[in-house]
Amino acid sequence: MSTETPIRYQQLGDLTASQIEAIRAIPSHDEAACEAIRATRPVAMFLDDDVFQREQSQVFRRLPVAITPSAMVPDTGSLLPHDAYGVPLIVSRDQHGKVHVFINACMHKGSTLVTGCEAQKGARITCPYHAWSWRLDGSLAGVARGETFDCLDKQKRNLVELPSKEAGGIVWAILDRDAEADFSLIDDAIVADLDALQLGQQHLYGHKQFDLDSNWKQVIEPFLEGYHVQRLHANSVGPLFADVPTVVTRIGDHIRQVSGKVEFAPGGLENEKNIHKTITHAYLLFPNTVIITSPYYMSVMIVVPVAAGKTRVMYHMLTLNKPDNPKSEALYKTSYETVLGVFGNEDFVAAEYCYKGLRTGALDEIDVVYSGLEHCILMQYETLEKHMN
Ligand code: FES
Ligand SMILES: [Fe+2]
Repeated sequence: MSTETPIRYQQLGDLTASQIEAIRAIPSHDEAACEAIRATRPVAMFLDDDVFQREQSQVFRRLPVAITPSAMVPDTGSLLPHDAYGVPLIVSRDQHGKVHVFINACMHKGSTLVTGCEAQKGARITCPYHAWSWRLDGSLAGVARGETFDCLDKQKRNLVELPSKEAGGIVWAILDRDAEADFSLIDDAIVADLDALQLGQQHLYGHKQFDLDSNWKQVIEPFLEGYHVQRLHANSVGPLFADVPTVVTRIGDHIRQVSGKVEFAPGGLENEKNIHKTITHAYLLFPNTVIITSPYYMSVMIVVPVAAGKTRVMYHMLTLNKPDNPKSEALYKTSYETVLGVFGNEDFVAAEYCYKGLRTGALDEIDVVYSGLEHCILMQYETLEKHMN
């Protein structure tokens, strides 16, 4: 008897009314129209340290940001060290299944507690230096040779926890522990979309970190426009897509784009076994997380600004099915290699080239200019500017 798990797919009817409405609004490719727009942005917004610092203080240190997909901390006892945002963190899932985000610093003398970049499992978080230990909810569990401390106030030695929320299959946190713990940005509407995609139930197939010489906004730009797809990706995935605008919906500060693949024709999608074969969803979860659906997997990319010209991308490939047979393993392996090749060698490289080019000053007087096929980028910048004013 076969032990293979039957492959699960998502169908149109699994999606929310809002997602279905957007898909229904996709015109046939020959009826798709795109308005010309007049829009520019100054080079300084990609290069200036001042802009970077303001983005840090007014957006990345104040608003909830994605830390990791839930799939990275799937089980009770999962512990994930996380260093991308410049604040060393530990993400834990406690014995009740609740996720916590702690500052990765020992409350004895500050040592890093959990090292590396892979998730671990354990019932305690134990400091490598003098072996103080904490429960997964951050409460102090043990102090080695505790009798040698006079009047140690253990209540004050619990781990420092940041405000966090797990929703839509993503762990969000606010990196400034003194900032207001306001998670209203992660509202029911965006969570409903992510829940319909079952982001929280997916399996982590693989993850990879990319350290890029580019501004974080330039790294996100190609995921907000289809203009480059036929050109930059001409020799890879370009032929799978149509050269038409996407159907765009603002969901709070987030952006959803849906588009039909090259073979798409309106109507009849309710009979599709796998809706992601024909329709691509691309989300920008404000400020810096990109989710793209593909036929057999989903990509979750957290694009972290490190400096004006340094960006770390945490790429995650999630699958609805756990690969438990050679056929699905081969399918996911090929998918993983393809997606890392396309994003890593094409989109991310384009972002690095743009950063390099802007640094020459060649566009200082004329600014960066955007087409109607790139208008989602302007939507993202309007939201960013709203938060920075
Ligand atoms: S620094 Fe962690 S136990 Fe001493
Ligand atoms: Fe691309």
